[in-house]
Amino acid sequence: MYKINDNYLKLPGSYLFSTIGRKVSKFTEANPDKKVIRMGIGDVTQPLAPVIIDALHSAVDEMAHQETFKGYAPDLGYEFLRSAIAENDFKARGCDISADEIFVSDGAKCDSGNIQEIFAADNKIAVTDPVYPVYVDSNVMAGRTGTYDAAAGTWSDVIYMPCTAENGFSPELPSERPDIIYLCFPNNPTGATITKERLQNWVDYARREGCIILYDAAYEAYISEEDVPHSIYECEGARECALELRSFSKNAGFTGVRLGYTVVPKDVKCGETSLHALWARRHGTKYNGAPYIIQKAGEAVYTAEGKKQLGEQVAYYMRNAHTIHAALTDLGYTVSGGINAPYVWMKTPDGMSSWDFFDFLLEKANVVGTPGSGFGPSGEGYFRMSAFGTYENTLEALERMKAL
Ligand SMILES: Cc1ncc(COP(=O)(O)O)c(C=O)c1O
Repeated sequence: MYKINDNYLKLPGSYLFSTIGRKVSKFTEANPDKKVIRMGIGDVTQPLAPVIIDALHSAVDEMAHQETFKGYAPDLGYEFLRSAIAENDFKARGCDISADEIFVSDGAKCDSGNIQEIFAADNKIAVTDPVYPVYVDSNVMAGRTGTYDAAAGTWSDVIYMPCTAENGFSPELPSERPDIIYLCFPNNPTGATITKERLQNWVDYARREGCIILYDAAYEAYISEEDVPHSIYECEGARECALELRSFSKNAGFTGVRLGYTVVPKDVKCGETSLHALWARRHGTKYNGAPYIIQKAGEAVYTAEGKKQLGEQVAYYMRNAHTIHAALTDLGYTVSGGINAPYVWMKTPDGMSSWDFFDFLLEKANVVGTPGSGFGPSGEGYFRMSAFGTYENTLEALERMKAL
């Protein structure tokens, strides 16, 4: 009899957003007359910018002609896109990253879930707590996390780095040495950022201790303050110890279009082995490239018109974030985030648990947020509000919360 990968059986419950989806469906079935406003999942709501639509149309037309038709994409992605990424996302910020260190993919979720494959099963991971669930769950599937303590909501072989109000939701260096460190800034779910100085401390630590940092910068486009690094490669030495994951989902609304990339600098080596070569091998074997049409749309992101239109889109969501932040503060909630990220992280009132507040808000205001405890034990007592809704819905949700 064949055997399954029984690491999958260790995964507790269902994926956070499936649980939320089920609860919301149950509520809407029972209350068909109620208009539910979703400020839970981090999906965008604004249509693709005109510059993206034009690029998609013209790439589709290219596919209709023998001379311009494209089949399989190159393994790492098309040169036109990788060059635009290297120039705009890195060189323009003083980061020494070249086009052949960029691996284009269909998004940061897949990359952040897949990247652990190139590391040994007995590596120890460290994650911030709360954390984007994919980092932990993909390591559970790989058998890297030990046993689950349901009461504590933690895995025996995972190092948790609490991000609390006391440390400004920016983790301290761990007391126990990890092998793989997952960092995400601007952060999902807390909306917090890290200063360049603190990020440099992490890079120095990783080099000193022989760790690899997996840096998720999916929300980079939302940074509005000075001294918040846009890339880990702004730090000295990061080329030797860090990979960076990026997404086109949040800066350009590609959640349904699908495009992202991972940076693997050629200087990252484990002994004599280059991680670039390993990831290239993995990419070449298991992935056949993001579609040409989509990569052309990605290229349009970096045109002058693209930057202008997408800047306006990001500003639209950030107006929501500022509105949520201000309204919840006025209502007396303790609130953070929402300045360099499209997420506002609020403390639940009166010591309510995250899920109790979720149910309360759904039932009384018909507003859906995300329970902080779904992101890890330190998220208990917190709640994430997303700024990715429409402005009108955001205002209405806040009005309803005011009336509670
Ligand atoms: C931290 C983080 N990384 C990655 C992703 C997924 O990005 P993508 O849509 O490119 O798969 C998300 C999506 O919510 C995220 O919050």
